[in-house]
Amino acid sequence: MTIVVTGAAGFIGSNFVLNWLTYSKEKVIALDKLTYAGNLENLKSVEANTNYEFAHGDIGDSRLVAKLLHQHQPRAIINFAAESHVDRSIHGPDDFMQTNILGTYRLLDEARSFFKTLSEENQKQFRFLHVSTDEVYGTLSSTDPAFKETKQYEPNSPYSASKAASDHLVRAWHHTYGLPVLTTNCSNNYGPYHFPEKLIPLCILKALQGQDLPIYGDGQQIRDWLYVVDHCKGIETVLDKGKIGETYNIGGWNEKTNLEVVHILCDLLDELKPREDGKSYRDQITFVKDRPGHDQRYAIDATKISKELGWKPEETFETGIRKTVQWYLDNQDWVANVQSGDYKMWLNKNYS
Ligand code: NAD
Ligand code: DAU
Repeated sequence: MTIVVTGAAGFIGSNFVLNWLTYSKEKVIALDKLTYAGNLENLKSVEANTNYEFAHGDIGDSRLVAKLLHQHQPRAIINFAAESHVDRSIHGPDDFMQTNILGTYRLLDEARSFFKTLSEENQKQFRFLHVSTDEVYGTLSSTDPAFKETKQYEPNSPYSASKAASDHLVRAWHHTYGLPVLTTNCSNNYGPYHFPEKLIPLCILKALQGQDLPIYGDGQQIRDWLYVVDHCKGIETVLDKGKIGETYNIGGWNEKTNLEVVHILCDLLDELKPREDGKSYRDQITFVKDRPGHDQRYAIDATKISKELGWKPEETFETGIRKTVQWYLDNQDWVANVQSGDYKMWLNKNYS
């Protein structure tokens, strides 16, 4: 048996592949365009594994996708491929529309063509699992209940609007064409291999490099954090036991303001890698201009996946964030390699 994992060289996709190959005998075909966010170093430890194969390409390249599907006859496609960074979507939405909307459409349509060629028995097993985000639901006030799967979609950024569009396409390909789909909507992930444009890795690296830690606005926006391996296990659970056509929210029951998160990071670094001048990394915190249209609060109600499928997170924020900070301290080569010229250009563009 084989699965195709798209966006496999990114943050969550690579964690998914690494975790999958630790326990499964099923072959993984990893498809990735290797944008600035895709990094084959994340998958270096499985390069020699005979159950792993990498294919360089775009989910929107119908010919390539058709060839891969017919050649490898997968029993599932797990779609992580996306442009994923809200700030980049504000500076330049085009890539988001191309990959998240058109790319998902082309991938879905090739999956549909492939699905039609399968035997009845193989059709019963086949799944298209689309990995989406809580951001499609919009923003919450401090007293609103957490997002349930039934919450109306109200995306506010170019990124979340493009992900919402992709979710709707997935739904339509099920209702119209009978493609056996599953959708997961997850909260903010953190953990190893997280590209340092996002809050947690950005602040760890900037702290260690003696730079300002940029907090947008007043830092009181709330996100619901989940350790990335818990997300991957949630996806495996949905792939295994999820009901076709359903969506499942995945979250950590772990809401924190951005300022709280950065304080925790600073305190951990003070313990694990104290500053030479004996001061706290908290001194580097700086409040900067807010993100346009910044969503105030996200919170996931993960009751459905927990009650119906038996998944719950294994890490607490305390255990997960400690592992994460330690990972960045232990993997300075990885850090050095991702901080290329392109990365520096992005920092200048967003924070100037
Ligand atoms: P990421 O930006 O780290 O990785 C995205 C990967 O997709 C990269 O390897 C990139 O090269 C690849 N890619 C981009 N365009 C492609 C294309 N056209 N064809 C093939 N590959 C392409 O993103 P991530 O944080 O790992 O997120 C993965 C998925 O999970 C995304 O769909 C995202 O919306 C969703 N998600 C992310 C989070 C989070 O906190 N990071 C939370 C919920 C959902
Ligand atoms: O909620 C799930 C989403 O989480 C995913 O769908 C996205 O792909 C992922 O990027 C993430 O989006 P966020 O915008 O929440 O993540 P980010 O790390 O960019 O920002 C987290 C919070 O921190 C947000 O409120 C903005 C704030 N922030 C971010 C950066 C980069 C800062 O205050 N300063 C910063 O420099």
